Amino acid sequence: MKRILLTLMASISIIGCMDSISVAPKIAELGTVSNAMQLERGRAVYITSCSRCHNAIRITSITKSEWDGILPEMIEESELTISDSMAVTEYIQAVLNASASAAAQPSKSE
Ligand code: HEC
Repeated sequence: MKRILLTLMASISIIGCMDSISVAPKIAELGTVSNAMQLERGRAVYITSCSRCHNAIRITSITKSEWDGILPEMIEESELTISDSMAVTEYIQAVLNASASAAAQPSKSE
């Protein structure tokens, strides 16, 4: 029991310091998803391939329509395989959808 508590406290403090969580949220933070394996792969691509030339950019700092314009260019820059391109695209969409539905939550109580 004590151990669980310690682990919990440790992970809370890690979440507190690690900015990368909101730059590229973990799959577990995205709520219920049906394609977790694919999203994990997309996140790995995002963290490794998309931080070669610049830091990994906070996904939610770019709007969905901006991503639609930028992402195809950046996928080309990164010289990703087709399956990595699909995985990273799905991951970015999942993060944007999760943040959109989180933003929509408060208005549900209307
Ligand atoms: C070969 C180098 C390179 C790689 C790899 C790369 N980028 Fe970029 N990225 C750039 C450059 C250069 C710019 C700025 C010029 C521009 O907007 O075209 C940029 C700009 C961006 C921007 C716009 C930032 C802003 O604030 O407007 C986003 C978003 C972005 N990249 C995402 C990605 C993603 C996602 C990946 C992985 C799929 C990626 N980049 C991989 C070179 C790269």
